[in-house]
Amino acid sequence: KENRIVAPSLLAANFFTLSTEIAKVHDTSAQWIHLDVMDGHFVPNLTFGPKIIQDLRPQTDRFLDSHLMVSNPDFLIPLMAEAGVDAITIHSEAVIHLHRSIQTIKALGKLAGVSIVPSTPVSALSEILSFVDIVLVMTVNPGFGGQSLIESASDKIKSLDAIRIKMGYNFRISVDGGVNSSTAPSLWKKGADILVTGSSFFSDPDPRSFTSFLLSC
Ligand code: DX5
Ligand code: ZN
Repeated sequence: KENRIVAPSLLAANFFTLSTEIAKVHDTSAQWIHLDVMDGHFVPNLTFGPKIIQDLRPQTDRFLDSHLMVSNPDFLIPLMAEAGVDAITIHSEAVIHLHRSIQTIKALGKLAGVSIVPSTPVSALSEILSFVDIVLVMTVNPGFGGQSLIESASDKIKSLDAIRIKMGYNFRISVDGGVNSSTAPSLWKKGADILVTGSSFFSDPDPRSFTSFLLSC
């Protein structure tokens, strides 16, 4: 339990009052802040990019966990690194030369993550698992917060956990979409290390207790 990480997703925050929203995170024991970058092409929504992240960087000591839901992450990777994120996760569905993109992220000194949407099987990652620091399992179709978790997608956590034990890989398993106090216990049990939480964190009147609950459930 001591290695568990909770990562509130800024997607569910009020973008006009970001200082107040970040203060909410600082009031909890959430160690990471999850940043959803969307391009209106890979997913049917738009969020924010390097400028906001660069302005956020000096305002927080939390680990900045970026999740690029964009069709062309390669041009964005150096910009995200420059903006000061700590981890960059890209989608396996978005790039042809996934190994090259992952190496680019690592060469910039950032943790490198790969993500899969609910319709992509774990087997699609077989050739990249030994190279990544994070595997982000999407348990909703990416693009929006507040959706309910797709149970079959969460079973991929178990397969990934079994693979890393068998092969001796070091990646951490992160889960994104529909995380709340009812879904969290089974996600940890399946082998998750990091839980991303958007709407359930920011809509909770007491994010501090919510976070403590997630970390201990
Ligand atoms: C969805 C994003 C998630 C989102 C999760 O496309 O990748 O990070 O913020 O939101 P909730 O926790 O509300 O499902
Ligand atoms: Zn995300």
